[in-house]
Amino acid sequence: MYPDLQGKTVVITGAGTGLGQAMALRFGQEKANVVINYFKEEENPDDTIKEIERSGGKAIKIQGDVSKEEDIKQMIQKAVSEFGSLDIMVNNAGIENEVPSDELTLEDWNRVISTNLTGMFLGCREAIDYMLDHGIKGSVINMSSVHQQIPWPHFVHYAASKGGAKLLTETLALEYAPKGIRVNAIGPGAIDTPINAEKFADEKLKEGVVELIPMGYIGKPEEVAACAVWLSSSEASYVTGLTLYVDGGMTKYPGFQAGKG
Ligand code: NAI
Repeated sequence: MYPDLQGKTVVITGAGTGLGQAMALRFGQEKANVVINYFKEEENPDDTIKEIERSGGKAIKIQGDVSKEEDIKQMIQKAVSEFGSLDIMVNNAGIENEVPSDELTLEDWNRVISTNLTGMFLGCREAIDYMLDHGIKGSVINMSSVHQQIPWPHFVHYAASKGGAKLLTETLALEYAPKGIRVNAIGPGAIDTPINAEKFADEKLKEGVVELIPMGYIGKPEEVAACAVWLSSSEASYVTGLTLYVDGGMTKYPGFQAGKG
């Protein structure tokens, strides 16, 4: 537990499902004020809100599309009007789809880049602008991926968006370090969330993924959420510009494990 997170206000995008939802619940356990952005009607987070309230936190929801400037502005405004501040911004929303790059349509390219990268930029800009105006030494976390480092055939738009997330994070970390605003990224490996549901429903495909993980199992959303609260807390007060890989060792060349290299 991180006592300094109690009463802090955090906005989490794409928090109706998966990692965003797990982070919302964990920030709730830390007794933070959680603003849950969700995207689709069926992801309505009423149950998550109840669970957060049961664990001692506070939570509200706001539907919105991170690729729309106005929607991001509204998320921040809602956080401030409801809870009086914004201390932590988690740019988590993201999408992917598999398609050979020579067949990738401009529409699909734009959809992924505008959600994963432009949405992240807008979230960073609006949060940092608020923090600067109010002298808040806040924390921004961008949900990147191991694919900010590992090339990923058939997912070029996704890999490009996460590669962009890396330098977006590092550049903003450098730019706002003198103001005490920390900007970090989390790079998950393969985690059991809806984004992977189809892939992991196929045992063969799932086994293939597990083979790429030195620790030998698919990660749990809670394992990512645990890193997000640490990165946001004062325990990480001197950490900025980092991508914290939460990947069971996936980025460490599993092909070279003993006997294979
Ligand atoms: P998910 O599919 O459960 O979550 C993504 C969320 O983003 C969904 O709730 C979705 O509705 C929301 N979203 C999509 N478009 C949006 C938009 N325009 N505006 C607002 N919200 C939008 O999958 P997961 O795993 O929780 O993904 C969260 C983040 O983690 C993504 O950025 C993803 O790229 C990243 N990630 C996930 C990994 C995994 O293995 N699960 C691995 C590496 C990165």
